[in-house]
Amino acid sequence: MALDVSEMQTIEHDVIIVGAGGAGLRAAIECSRLGLDTGIVCKSLLGKAHTVMAEGGAAAALGNVDPRDNWKIHFRDTMRGGKFLNQWRMAELHAKQAPDRVRELEEWGAVFDRTKEGKIAQRNFGGHRYPRLAHVGDRTGLELIRTLQDKGVHTGISVHMECTMIGLLKDGDRVSGLVGLWKEAGRFVVFKAKTIIFATGGFGKAWRITSNSWEYTGDGQTVAYEAGAEMMDMEFTQFHPTGMVWPPSVAGILVTEGVRGEGGILKNQAGDRFMFDYIPEAFASETADTVEEAQRWLDGDDGSRRPPELLTRDVVARAIYNEVKEGRGSDHGGAYLDVASRRSPEYIKKKLPAMYHQFKELAEVDITKQPMEVGPTFHYAMGGIRVDADSQMTNVPGLFACGECAAGLHGANRLGGNSLSDLLVFGRLAGVGAKAFIDANPDTPKIDEDQVKALVKRAIAPLNRESGGNPYVIHDKLRDSNTSLVGIWRDEEGLTKGIDAIHALRKEAETVKAYGSSQYNPGWAEAMDLNALLTVSEMVATAARLRQESRGAHSRVDFLGEREEWGQYNIVIKRNDDGSMNVERVARGDNPEELAKIGFATLEELEGTNG
Ligand code: FUM
Repeated sequence: MALDVSEMQTIEHDVIIVGAGGAGLRAAIECSRLGLDTGIVCKSLLGKAHTVMAEGGAAAALGNVDPRDNWKIHFRDTMRGGKFLNQWRMAELHAKQAPDRVRELEEWGAVFDRTKEGKIAQRNFGGHRYPRLAHVGDRTGLELIRTLQDKGVHTGISVHMECTMIGLLKDGDRVSGLVGLWKEAGRFVVFKAKTIIFATGGFGKAWRITSNSWEYTGDGQTVAYEAGAEMMDMEFTQFHPTGMVWPPSVAGILVTEGVRGEGGILKNQAGDRFMFDYIPEAFASETADTVEEAQRWLDGDDGSRRPPELLTRDVVARAIYNEVKEGRGSDHGGAYLDVASRRSPEYIKKKLPAMYHQFKELAEVDITKQPMEVGPTFHYAMGGIRVDADSQMTNVPGLFACGECAAGLHGANRLGGNSLSDLLVFGRLAGVGAKAFIDANPDTPKIDEDQVKALVKRAIAPLNRESGGNPYVIHDKLRDSNTSLVGIWRDEEGLTKGIDAIHALRKEAETVKAYGSSQYNPGWAEAMDLNALLTVSEMVATAARLRQESRGAHSRVDFLGEREEWGQYNIVIKRNDDGSMNVERVARGDNPEELAKIGFATLEELEGTNG
């Protein structure tokens, strides 16, 4: 029987935001503040987001702990960390606006840790020259979400929870709405809107070891791509150096970089502090090369050269990987992270309370007395939906993206702490952009019933089949293949095998069967997620094969080191009319002279120049 779309539930807002993490909430607050009827649609519960995994803090050049800090040095650090592949304008907006966004959070009730003078406290983090991360112990992301949720519900936004986005609807080129599925009822719903903002996060669930939770399946990237949006920088996937490695049931859970920011050090099986062996030339002048010098930094006697544990995440993750590969790893295949010998139990419990409880409860380790065992975990996608820096609009009129699902700010590698400030700055700008778009295009676009029918038909296919493969098995195979072939180190042969595996799994996914009814059916959800998991995996692997160099988080065994010409290109992915994936390198076209001067300046040139 044909689907009668007029019988389907329809919900209308001026703007619909998909995703209820930090970026989605911040965008919603802005839209509502600007007078838009605002709805949030989220796959899970409000505030159940990867934002909470940014535990160590939000980076903003407040200069509270070291007055030499300013936006230019934050900008420079971000560009250096991203190996200068970042969009210059995004990095500028981010560094300039982050302090106001953090102060605003405080006005809305966020309870930050304090300096002795009563200012917002800031801690050290990898790649940041000065203590820059405004934090709440090691639960900063959680506090940020709590604050935004409180603020958001008081600004009158409507929240539609446990609703999975199935696909976008368009009226001509412009977005007109989306189809969702209420998980509990198993019923489809049409959302109509003048603009849509994606804040759907990343896609770590396509890899075996990840800090991401079950929602992180690449829905936003895939749905946007299917609607004609361009993707960018997908080859850059961040492996956070310190996830838990033992016991296996908790492998991948994040161990905040705040542990190293508070003085924690990394050791191998022999007890050697191995990071001194991995200092890249570009950072050598700013990194301590002896234990004594690093200790002086910890003691606060000489803050000029930072310990090598606070090098950028790509460097630290590769170092741990190498120690393990060469047989010097910890008992369960990682490294030892020791804060116990560096800080008092009282200090550790005050500054790292979540880590203390996490290890006590999950690993039976007391981090005030024993080292933690840690290893790399897939944490973040630098690449995603290509957006305009100022408005956050994609190339699809009316479709915006912000936070992790959008690309541009972080280039080849994100600095820790820059994600919380990213989502605050660009969540707000996406709201401003959506309002400007509606002002210029006030008509409500039309819903095309045939598009609705096609999306519903595709979604229910796994339920309606008589028999078929098991979606969990396909997901499992994909995780293993991506982890071994599209992991921290890559090469042409492995990537080609990885792409072939993805194609083969896609064929299998076309005939999967979900048993049971449409209501609260996790097997059906898994079957529907496969399309996105496979699509983003193909994007990552194909872009990684095309980029024949090593830069930031993308490391090629067969192309060691950066190649200058590649610094001029982003890899942009678009869907061809026949449904195939078009992956090509596109000249960046942004290199503003004034920003380049700041990006390549020495520290001395920038200190005390907060203009
Ligand atoms: O280690 C952490 O606390 C993570 C922070 C981030 O990814 O920004």
